[in-house]
Amino acid sequence: MSSVDNTFIYSAKNLDYDYPGGIAALKEICFDIGAGELVALVGANGSGKSTLLKLLDGLLFPTSGELLAFGMKLSEKILETGSRAVDFRRRVGLVFQDPDVQLFSPTVWEEVTFGPLQLGICREEVISRANEALELLNIVNLRERPPYLLSGGEKKKVSLASVLSLRPQVLLLDEPTTGLDPWSQGNLIDFLLQWADKDKVLVFSTQDLDVVEEVATRIIVMGAGHGIVADGKPEEFLSDSDFLLRNNLVHEHSHRHKDLVHRHPHLHERSHEH
Ligand SMILES: Nc1ncnc2c1ncn2[C@@H]1O[C@H](COP(=O)(O)OP(=O)(O)OP(=O)(O)O)[C@@H](O)[C@H]1O
Ligand SMILES: [Mg+2]
Repeated sequence: MSSVDNTFIYSAKNLDYDYPGGIAALKEICFDIGAGELVALVGANGSGKSTLLKLLDGLLFPTSGELLAFGMKLSEKILETGSRAVDFRRRVGLVFQDPDVQLFSPTVWEEVTFGPLQLGICREEVISRANEALELLNIVNLRERPPYLLSGGEKKKVSLASVLSLRPQVLLLDEPTTGLDPWSQGNLIDFLLQWADKDKVLVFSTQDLDVVEEVATRIIVMGAGHGIVADGKPEEFLSDSDFLLRNNLVHEHSHRHKDLVHRHPHLHERSHEH
């Protein structure tokens, strides 16, 4: 891929995105993401996390400002056809928040082999990658099932497998652990930590600050105004209870402890005195 500035995998320069009808979703977004970073995107509902992941995947393009990937300015034209488009699609994979949007094949096996076949990877290699992805997510038994008849968590695993089979350098995951049972969440986290290395990039959105702490080397916090309100090391923010409350990252509600019903913020440090 031709490159003018290859220092960063992504560079967002004052990027805005409005959906048709002028609905603002991202405002004045600026960041650089380098190889080796594991970035958690957090923020309240509607703050723009999914939209940002779609821009990073080249599915949407900035309304103003620009987004560079591998030193190349992403645009509809560049990603339409040609070797640069294929190279980008081989390197970057997005797992959607809602698996129903992602899954379309008649069987799980076809779902998991579709992406790599589409990108021109040879059949033998595709079979080996698809088997590996199914094993990794412990869904070999679902191979011949139609994706639309699976449970929510099973669908999520199939959409993860369909992107992992591409073996992307950049993995974009929109709320990857949502809907997974605790064993499967742990399994996915183990995988991500083993997968990560100095050349790879992970950007994932989540509402789960424990996952942020376990996986991320960097946290980007989106605010209600669709801009970035914080960007740094997770430990800088996760212990700041006022900041977490202000940005809807922790909640305060009434709850029961045996016979005592009371109210206090649920802070990241899980243990609290009663
Ligand atoms: N297809 C769309 N058309 C119009 N507006 C949209 C569309 N998708 C999202 N939006 C709006 O864009 C803003 C950002 O939405 P987005 O889905 O990126 O938020 P999010 O941070 O991922 O939220 P959540 O935590 O609920 O997943 C919201 O105000 C939302 O209503
Ligand atoms: Mg979202």
